[in-house]
Amino acid sequence: MKSDQTKWDFKYLQKASILSKPDQFFCDSIKLFCGNTILDLAGGDGKNSIYFLQSNFDVTLLDISIEGIKRVKQNYLEIKTIQMDLDNLNLVAQLPKFDNIIISYFKPSYDLWKLLPDLLNSKGKIFFHTFHIDQHYQKGFSKRFCLENNEFTYLSKEIKQVQHNKAEIDGNHIDCSIFEKIK
Ligand SMILES: C[S@@+](CC[C@H](N)C(=O)[O-])C[C@H]1O[C@@H](n2cnc3c(N)ncnc32)[C@H](O)[C@@H]1O
Repeated sequence: MKSDQTKWDFKYLQKASILSKPDQFFCDSIKLFCGNTILDLAGGDGKNSIYFLQSNFDVTLLDISIEGIKRVKQNYLEIKTIQMDLDNLNLVAQLPKFDNIIISYFKPSYDLWKLLPDLLNSKGKIFFHTFHIDQHYQKGFSKRFCLENNEFTYLSKEIKQVQHNKAEIDGNHIDCSIFEKIK
């Protein structure tokens, strides 16, 4: 929604020009990626997209924030970008298919989650990495951005969860999972 864009545009405008490091979960999982294309869903200013571009993947970053996208495009023109509100499911349904989808520090709506299988090629994978509910209980982080125990562990009968664990990363409680499209 529009308020998400305003909030995140402001954050990216305030942010120091140095880019953050990619998430270790993706670096550790890189051998499990299939094919060549990656959709970085709510990819922000591209810390993970840049890592995968430099690892020779064909990367598309989607985010609502124009300012986040500007930061990516400044130095990495090869990254394809889509400025889109993920609450607009009609637009999401028109996206092409990808071999892999990555989600980092973003909690999709349930309706968006249910659309993801349609955005995956056969045997495609989803790598999902975001705050676990313990981040709320132990660190006071906003509950609505955290995954409850076993929330988002099931997607559809054509998608199976092949890996799921909770990790403590830099003192934060993170839920990490990998899904694979069976057909
Ligand atoms: C915590 S940041 C994570 C960014 C990136 N995935 C990362 O790990 O660095 C959350 C991102 O979600 C994006 N976002 C929030 N609401 C959105 C929406 N409705 N549609 C698309 N992107 C959205 C924000 O602009 C922001 O870049």
